[in-house]
Amino acid sequence: MAKSITVDDLDIYYGDFLAVQGVNMTIKARSVTAFIGPSGCGKSTMLRSLNRMHEVIPGARVEGKVMVDGQSLYDNAVDPVAVRRQIGMVFQRPNPFPTMSIYENVLAGNRLNAKKMKKAEADEIVERSLKGANLWNEVKDRLGKPGMGLSGGQQQRLCIARAIAVEPQVLLMDEPCSALDPISTSAIEDLIHELKSDYTIVIVTHNMQQAARVSDETGFFNLKAAGQPGQLVEFNNTQKMFANPDNESTEAYISGRFG
Ligand SMILES: Nc1ncnc2c1ncn2[C@@H]1O[C@H](COP(=O)(O)OP(=O)(O)OP(=O)(O)O)[C@@H](O)[C@H]1O
Ligand SMILES: [Mg+2]
Repeated sequence: MAKSITVDDLDIYYGDFLAVQGVNMTIKARSVTAFIGPSGCGKSTMLRSLNRMHEVIPGARVEGKVMVDGQSLYDNAVDPVAVRRQIGMVFQRPNPFPTMSIYENVLAGNRLNAKKMKKAEADEIVERSLKGANLWNEVKDRLGKPGMGLSGGQQQRLCIARAIAVEPQVLLMDEPCSALDPISTSAIEDLIHELKSDYTIVIVTHNMQQAARVSDETGFFNLKAAGQPGQLVEFNNTQKMFANPDNESTEAYISGRFG
């Protein structure tokens, strides 16, 4: 299920603008990798290049390689829609589909993939996914009610349920807790801990404590100056990174001296 990702000399462009330059890293399967760094250094761009969401933006492209369990993600033969199914994404703002019920929200990805489903199978997926996202007990008696009727933290867990309903191999999360209160944040962090036994997880966060709590490995991105491309400055074991980073600018960033 879970897959490793190897990034090889990756450059990421928006038209002529080189946003992220020369990234090399290996993201281990069944682990949590955190991306940290100041605003604008390319964390979200990097994340979106890992499931081919980047190229949805007109003019956006990459050079270099991303390998998922040895398969090249940007190969001509690879279908980007299939990639996005295998490599799910959770965004900063919870984005349940406004007109859909909780039940239909969970199944939205499965329906998009045009999988014909019996009611019993659909019920099973909804229950499994909501349980997986730690939301089942709170919503099991109101599955037909609108997803928008949930609290922000519940909506974010609903979006996680929707992402895991299609059984992806990798889960990419872009600041999933930034709009949430500490209790919902803690619930999502617990969930990340549970999910990593089945999934490869990459999380972008501005919260250093969160990166230290949830991740096994951390990548620190930075840019030399405004308008310059973002670069991966250090990629290291999280404990090592926060206790004794190899790079001076990593140290400065995580100790709050800039960024
Ligand atoms: N759709 C876009 N078109 C053109 N440039 C973009 C686009 N999205 C991002 N960029 C540029 O790419 C660079 C990296 O942006 P990105 O959003 O990846 O940064 P980030 O590290 O996620 O920042 P933040 O912490 O604020 O979310 C920035 O210079 C940004 O202006
Ligand atoms: Mg971002």
